[in-house]
Amino acid sequence: DPDQKILSIADLEREASKKLGKSAREFYNSGSTDQITIHENSTAFSRYRLRPRVLVDVSGVDTSTTVFGRSISFPLSVSPAGLQAMAHPDGEAASSRACARKGVNMAISSFSNYSIEAVRAAAAEIGAIDHAIQLYTMRDRELEERIIRKAEAAGCKAVFLTADSPVLGVRYNEWKNDFRTPEGLEFPVIELTTHKVRSQTHDSGFVAFNDDSHSWARDIPWLRARTKMQIWIKGVLTAEDTELAVEHGCDGVIVSNHGGRQLDGVMATLDALPECVEAAKGRIGVHVDGGFRSGTDIFKALALGADCCWVGRPAIWGLAVSDILALSLSARHVFG
Ligand code: FNR
Repeated sequence: DPDQKILSIADLEREASKKLGKSAREFYNSGSTDQITIHENSTAFSRYRLRPRVLVDVSGVDTSTTVFGRSISFPLSVSPAGLQAMAHPDGEAASSRACARKGVNMAISSFSNYSIEAVRAAAAEIGAIDHAIQLYTMRDRELEERIIRKAEAAGCKAVFLTADSPVLGVRYNEWKNDFRTPEGLEFPVIELTTHKVRSQTHDSGFVAFNDDSHSWARDIPWLRARTKMQIWIKGVLTAEDTELAVEHGCDGVIVSNHGGRQLDGVMATLDALPECVEAAKGRIGVHVDGGFRSGTDIFKALALGADCCWVGRPAIWGLAVSDILALSLSARHVFG
């Protein structure tokens, strides 16, 4: 059926949304409260127009860039997003394989359904890529320390400290659907088994787990004392916080609003990017995620000073329709 051909990320979203059940679909696709920020993330790109030059030799274009000290094939990688096994049984292991196949990096969510070791091993069968471990500021500091040690031992190159989630964003869909983790799925990174996972909603689980008394002064030196991995702060939207990341010796910031799933009403990441780039003054890396759905989106962010872009939902939609995608549509074809 030609109407079902997947040529763009919008097509991918449409087909994935047909395949996923309501509760999973809304969990993946929605933002928080009024959906303002999730909408703006992707519409912000259309406020910029390209100014192309012509008669330039593009026969030997090289899209590669360097991240965590190693070359990746093009400036896009897969953001940390939890619960990927709800979209496909192979979940984060499959995402990791896909990243390895395309030569890009991946960040592993604290709420991954596969262990750090399993995600690393899945990629290693195909090729060398780098992984970051995404962390929250946890109440259980011993568990946080165990995760860091495991990630470092498994070869992860960076910690992404997600700083935009002192409390979980208010997502009406999760409340309306009484969203629970499906039977049989676990969260091995944070050492949570099926039974414990199903007895609580995502929100109540998060409250019990996350420490909202976090701060730059407490958490960055604590991390630095425990790992040689790079430290990136995920969820920065301002020049002020970029400056603080520099002052605290962080390796970079990821300009992010959690895909519009946390505080609704914050600016689109593309609009927040220039002030963060300006504040960083080249001293630390500036990456960005939120609403990237085409190659020109990536181009616009790079033109505004980003070093690399990341995507969350497009990878999940890819997992959900992976059987349709047997024709081997590659992220590179859509984005490149
Ligand atoms: C996320 N995101 C996220 N971020 C994070 O730091 N830790 C996490 O566990 C999760 N989990 C998560 C689950 C799902 C289903 C989604 C869609 C997103 C946010 C993610 O890392 C990223 O910031 C956004 O997904 C980027 O926006 P797009 O590309 O999805 O528009």
